[in-house]
Amino acid sequence: EKGTYPHFMLKEIDEQPLVLRKIIQKYRSEKGELEIDQEIVKAVNESDRIYIIAAGTSYHAGLVGKQFIEKLAAVPVEVHIASEFGYNMPLLSAKPLFIFISQSGETADSRAVLVQIKELGHKALTITNVPGSTLSREADFTLLLHAGPEIAVASTKAYTAQLAVLSILAEVVARSKGKEIGFDLSRELGIAANAMEILCDSKEEFEKMAHEYVSTTRNAFFIGRGVDYYVCLEGSLKLKEISYIQAEGFAGGELKHGTIALIEDGTPIIALATQESVNLSIRGNVKEVVARGANPCIISMKGLEMADDRFVIPEVHELLTPLISVIPMQLFAYYAALHRNCDVDKPRNLAKSVTVE
Ligand code: F6R
Repeated sequence: EKGTYPHFMLKEIDEQPLVLRKIIQKYRSEKGELEIDQEIVKAVNESDRIYIIAAGTSYHAGLVGKQFIEKLAAVPVEVHIASEFGYNMPLLSAKPLFIFISQSGETADSRAVLVQIKELGHKALTITNVPGSTLSREADFTLLLHAGPEIAVASTKAYTAQLAVLSILAEVVARSKGKEIGFDLSRELGIAANAMEILCDSKEEFEKMAHEYVSTTRNAFFIGRGVDYYVCLEGSLKLKEISYIQAEGFAGGELKHGTIALIEDGTPIIALATQESVNLSIRGNVKEVVARGANPCIISMKGLEMADDRFVIPEVHELLTPLISVIPMQLFAYYAALHRNCDVDKPRNLAKSVTVE
């Protein structure tokens, strides 16, 4: 039920801090350590490469998950769009492990890959919000998102839950190998939950921002580098699917290789700057588009902020910024759709789970 909320999407955005806290609790042992089924940890440790298969928002979560697993657990990861993988299968490593990320657990494109790789005799783990879903039943292992039902067609809390579960998987695998990751993940996830709350309490700011940047625009671009780029892909998907504004996410450095030709007077550019290592270079990209007339909206993180930033998110661990920086994107899309009188929870041409290939 929506309760006092006008839309499920807004309710689900607001539930994110609670969901994150629930995940920390669900994946914590009595000793207070993060914990994952030993069989899953063993399967990861026995594999030489992980193949993440997903679609849409879950694919975007996979791109960030790759960073967690490679940086913390030092296992190589490839991320594939489910609908492409089937007929364009890459050369597999000797001991692959497949991870299917799917909110619904019913996406036909992902299921087709699962059937294919099971026939080849490979192991599969499904990360899903729906216990008993097809992808969960047919895989060897399941990790649950514990996000509660997601009703709005546009995925929000499932995405942040997917990131949280992937980070926990990465940490537990790292610890099983005796690797020091150098920070306390459950503590950092707790800090991230508090930061999410602050962002959810800043709705008026994002409403103003949406009004200012995209109330009449035909298109919008999102730019970032590193994980910020992946969040830009998700931010642009959110905006296009519910507001029908043509939106694209780009890697900051790729702009000059073609996309910059699209910049006109007033084109909104939403730039994410949450990573110290690329803070200056992404700002360089913003300068390039501003020189061509773009209307920039820089969202940065505390500690990295500069004079013209439109919004500064609270500081969280640098690996975990996507859990936080996606919230301004979700709210921006929500208010943009609202301003344009779009059906926020049930956008045209879309269904909640896509059960055809
Ligand atoms: C976007 C969205 C879709 C889904 C995609 C995969 O907001 O909801 O892109 O993420 O259809 O769905 P699942 O995760 O259920 O496999």
